[in-house]
Amino acid sequence: MANLTIRKLDELLKAELRQRAAANGRSMEDEVRVILRDAMHQRHGFATGLPQAGGEVAPDDVSAGDQTAFVASPRSTARVTLIVGGGIAAYKAMDLIRRLKERGADVRVVLTKAAQQFVSPLTASALSHQRCYTDLFDPQSEFDAGHIRLARDCDLIVIAPATADLMAKMAGGHADDLATAILLATNRPVLLAPAMNPLMWNNPATRRNVDQLKRDGVTMVGPNAGEMAERGEAGTGRMAEPIEIAAAAQALFAPPPRPLRGRRVLITAGPTHEPIDPVRYIANRSSGKQGYAIAAAAARAGAEVALISGPVDLAAPDGVTLTRVESARDMLAAVHSALPADVAIFAAAVADWRVASEGEQKIKKGAGGPPPLQLTENPDILATISKLADGRPPLVIGFAAETENLLDNARAKLARKGCDWIVANDVSPATGVMGGDRNTVHLLMKSGESVEIDSWPVMTKDDVARALVQRIAQATEQAGEVRA
Ligand SMILES: Cc1cc2nc3c(=O)[nH]c(=O)nc-3n(C[C@H](O)[C@H](O)[C@H](O)COP(=O)(O)O)c2cc1C
Repeated sequence: MANLTIRKLDELLKAELRQRAAANGRSMEDEVRVILRDAMHQRHGFATGLPQAGGEVAPDDVSAGDQTAFVASPRSTARVTLIVGGGIAAYKAMDLIRRLKERGADVRVVLTKAAQQFVSPLTASALSHQRCYTDLFDPQSEFDAGHIRLARDCDLIVIAPATADLMAKMAGGHADDLATAILLATNRPVLLAPAMNPLMWNNPATRRNVDQLKRDGVTMVGPNAGEMAERGEAGTGRMAEPIEIAAAAQALFAPPPRPLRGRRVLITAGPTHEPIDPVRYIANRSSGKQGYAIAAAAARAGAEVALISGPVDLAAPDGVTLTRVESARDMLAAVHSALPADVAIFAAAVADWRVASEGEQKIKKGAGGPPPLQLTENPDILATISKLADGRPPLVIGFAAETENLLDNARAKLARKGCDWIVANDVSPATGVMGGDRNTVHLLMKSGESVEIDSWPVMTKDDVARALVQRIAQATEQAGEVRA
């Protein structure tokens, strides 16, 4: 079918296509396929989120055959600054230019001085269709601080091959040539494709530098194991194949999964303060960390998040609407105003009681001894919302903070409150959960007449939040409806 179409094109278009196909080393039919696919991707706005940095992309993880275009927001085309280091594998970086361009990237190439011993700037510019950059003190590009432009006016920096020397300079924060100045000046994600002799790769100095770079948030692809250019040598040190590197670059542009997009999630967090008089209050030790972590994870998962927080010393997570309250009664009022919601998570440690009659003035110390504090019950926010006849969120999750008989108490709470799930955590002082960064939870989920219990190992509160949001995403996906 492609043949037929090509034959019917007018001569001018055919000549243009022939030239483009030849430049890209493809058949005319393949070129048409690439053009159509790119057009389709751009029309359907395959815009990316921010690339995620800091990790390792195993060559096995990337789909070598996947050549869909990657594009970056807010421009339509991803811009890659490709730094080529001085190793034998520099010749493969020339193929990488083509692989990146096939995926719709705009590639600007920087060659180190050593790289120019292996490949020429002319080859790099011919393949990238752009001028190739080689010199930090280049009057032509430095009239407007060109190295800063190359560092920032891009979506991703790829270094291939990343030599031992380049990695050492990066780890040490050097900036004495164009490549290292760009790398020190960038605030963009960096993907490294190391390539070197296995002894260089295994040298303790390189190991230290690799560890440091990973801690600094750099992502690595390869090196692979295999034969070396040096005769008779084999081991780990071969640069990943260009197609693997292009796929790893593309993976960094993949939008993060947003399974809660279109859902509204309401979360309460922190303690409540119940006034005794204008200057004193009853409180508890809740830090709000777990609730805030859940709010952040839900927002990252694409939910519209309303966080209602008691007094804590934490900043609002990105993308979350925060309402600060003091008492249990304020919290309940704020929860009602934040409805409707698809999911409501009550992680706040709401005081069970408040002082029945709050002093209007500061209670004075007198000869009559301490004043009797008559307590009265606070509204039960979890039970109130779980039992709403009208506008009950489809998934209501409570927290059970217990110091003894954790599972029995949590099970009883699940039945008593009428919620769907309970996240039970042991908050006895020895666990350090209250105010700490780690948590051990059991997730109790009502399933018809029975209760399923999922016990998680000790995790950071961020990991608990991520895992809970994942479970919520699965449950809401099964339930189906998305709010308009
Ligand atoms: C023939 C030859 C091949 C080389 N191959 C590599 C290599 O694969 N990896 C590496 O880290 N260094 C290699 N080197 C050493 C680098 O070229 C040298 O460390 C240089 O300073 C790197 O500079 P750059 O990091 O600025 O590109 C090679 C050197 C020669 C002469």
